[in-house]
Amino acid sequence: MMKVASLFKFWLMIGFAAGSPLTKVGAPSTHFDYTNPQKWEEHESNCAGQHQSPININTDEVIVTNYPKFIFQNYDLVFPESLENNGHTVELKIDNEDDEDDLPSISGGGLDDRYNFAQLHFHWDEGLLGSEHTINRQKYSAELHVVHYNTKYGSFDNAVPHADGLAVLGILIDLQARDNIAFRHLEQFDKIIDPSRTISDRLQFSVPLVDLLPDSTESFFRYNGSLTTPGCNEDVIWTVFETPIAISVRQLAKFRLLNDENGMPLRKNVRPTQMLHDRVVTYRPDPNPIQSLFSFPSNLPNLFKPFSNEFQQSNF
Ligand SMILES: *[C@@H]1O[C@H](CO)[C@@H](O)[C@H](O)[C@H]1NC(C)=O
Repeated sequence: MMKVASLFKFWLMIGFAAGSPLTKVGAPSTHFDYTNPQKWEEHESNCAGQHQSPININTDEVIVTNYPKFIFQNYDLVFPESLENNGHTVELKIDNEDDEDDLPSISGGGLDDRYNFAQLHFHWDEGLLGSEHTINRQKYSAELHVVHYNTKYGSFDNAVPHADGLAVLGILIDLQARDNIAFRHLEQFDKIIDPSRTISDRLQFSVPLVDLLPDSTESFFRYNGSLTTPGCNEDVIWTVFETPIAISVRQLAKFRLLNDENGMPLRKNVRPTQMLHDRVVTYRPDPNPIQSLFSFPSNLPNLFKPFSNEFQQSNF
């Protein structure tokens, strides 16, 4: 009996160490829904392409690459922001009538150009596994997509036809017991429960984009892909950060209160993972990882001693 109990503890530990699930992001279009995403290609031939998103990222097959770190410009500034329910997701935009130069932007991180913020939106599912991208087949609870356009094309619309037109940051969302304070300002969905192209709701307290970034943006996965919604344009340089952000179950539930175009609850907006085909996924590891408990080899013998003894005594 003792042996069984110890083994059980051992597997519990493995379970905790193996961590949690993943999520993904998309972009809006006209009439489509998530009951049968395989049928999108009947109306949008792009969706049947060979470089589609999202994908599963198999960490055994990524190619470690020497990218510089990301530069986030004006990510810490406070802009007037509006939320819109487009029937497929909730989208946050910055209301700047005049100044494209002041928009938050990203560069570095292996991108050849500077990319301006266009919008951000979310993907979720009925359960707690609503990410679009998966890592080693594991889903996270939801996924945030921060969409940017290449400034050399001048605008989002002009950038869309180009293979290097868009850069999307995919941020996986995990669960935590406490609320994420940034989302408390963002989750004000009362006026946008039903979709509308005309009604968008100005946020009472704007969220600087930096508050939605993971604690570390040092390590990330990179591949060439597409929008995860019709038209499925293959014009996205994808970055999926290795470090997730986290929200509470209560905050995640807020997204499911939104309705779709038919007035039905928008329970899920996740496209299944797509084949990699001839693509590769590259990976920038964190050059200076924070040492955690498990990084200190000196801790390991004590930590694992009871279990390794168990193994020695048994018939494994
Ligand atoms: C994406 O496509 C560009 C242009 O073909 C190529 O130079 C780049 O290496 C690709 N990126 C990855 C991560 O494969």
